[in-house]
Amino acid sequence: MLINNWYVAAKSQQVNREKPLIVRMLGQNFVLYRTPEGEAVCLANTCCHRGGSIGRGELDGAGCIGCGYHGWKFNPQGRCVEIPSLGKDAKIPRRARVDSYPVEEHFDWVWVFLGDLEENDRPRIPATEFPEYHDKENWRVVSMEFDADVNWARGHENSLDSAHPAFVHASFGRRSAPEVQIVPLVPNAFMGHNATRQRVPPKRSQISADIAKLVSEKRGKTTASTDSYLAGISHRIDITREGNIRQVTISARTPVDPYNTRVFAHQARNYLLEEEHDEARREGIRRAYKEDLDVVATVEPKFVPRSMAHQLLVEADQMETAFRKVLIEKVKQGWEIDFDRLQDEGRFRHYSIPSPARRKDPKNWVHPVVPTTFPR
Ligand code: FES
Ligand SMILES: [Fe+2]
Repeated sequence: MLINNWYVAAKSQQVNREKPLIVRMLGQNFVLYRTPEGEAVCLANTCCHRGGSIGRGELDGAGCIGCGYHGWKFNPQGRCVEIPSLGKDAKIPRRARVDSYPVEEHFDWVWVFLGDLEENDRPRIPATEFPEYHDKENWRVVSMEFDADVNWARGHENSLDSAHPAFVHASFGRRSAPEVQIVPLVPNAFMGHNATRQRVPPKRSQISADIAKLVSEKRGKTTASTDSYLAGISHRIDITREGNIRQVTISARTPVDPYNTRVFAHQARNYLLEEEHDEARREGIRRAYKEDLDVVATVEPKFVPRSMAHQLLVEADQMETAFRKVLIEKVKQGWEIDFDRLQDEGRFRHYSIPSPARRKDPKNWVHPVVPTTFPR
């Protein structure tokens, strides 16, 4: 799992001014809430006092949260501003603070930056890459989120993989047309790549009756444009069928821990815009994800191999190969949490994902930074 990346922590509507929300990401707990002004806040959930769950506590209505164990009060920057057991006027120790992480909201998702990089060095959120989401007149969106017991990187690779639908997705893959068009990969501005390919459309018997009415008997090719983004371990898949019938899916994968992933997805369509068609679309997405996750849950090893030589990737796997290269590069830059060491040493001491405040002021933190597999 990588630090120094943006992850989708929750849907915007789940984060509010009344009740803190505890979210697990990268094997750690975080607490999210909103200030009275509506700004979303994300703090490390483990209290620097005696390890209580801050998120079990209460919001004070003025932008601070009191820890659920002894009520130490933290502001949105993670600074402790009050220690009730010492009285109102007590001097607050410098080390009385927890990490506070940058937050942005896009597509009604709360993105948090779990790392300590300066703003310009962070992977960019593909905030501009989903205009369909905002165009309510021409597009209709269905959304869903769910947990899957698969590794985040294996799951992401599956979503970039154009060779599996013929064998995994009976509802739209074409067993008789398994070939993947090899195209030049185009790097995008989001530490990922685009592949735009022609593919054979599903058979008429595979498509639903409502879509069958929109397309002709003898349909032209389908174009699938896939983008991979590092931020959010996300991707965009833009499928254009004959007659400019389009469907754009954007999806993010948040590592809950090395073995579990939370998936957030929006799918926009420019056809059958009425609400009555939503459930059929949702059902299609659910079915496709289930088919994917059933396969990914059975791959071995559970994690992405560290060398290209440890599996036999071929030219048709070009998007997955490109993602692995980005992943390995970031691992070597010291972005990968050393989970084995963390599990061992973390039994007696809590380690925290570093936040940007540590760059300027690396000393005076109770919780040290999580160990990484390569030096940072
Ligand atoms: S553990 Fe949080 S206030 Fe004591
Ligand atoms: Fe799939």
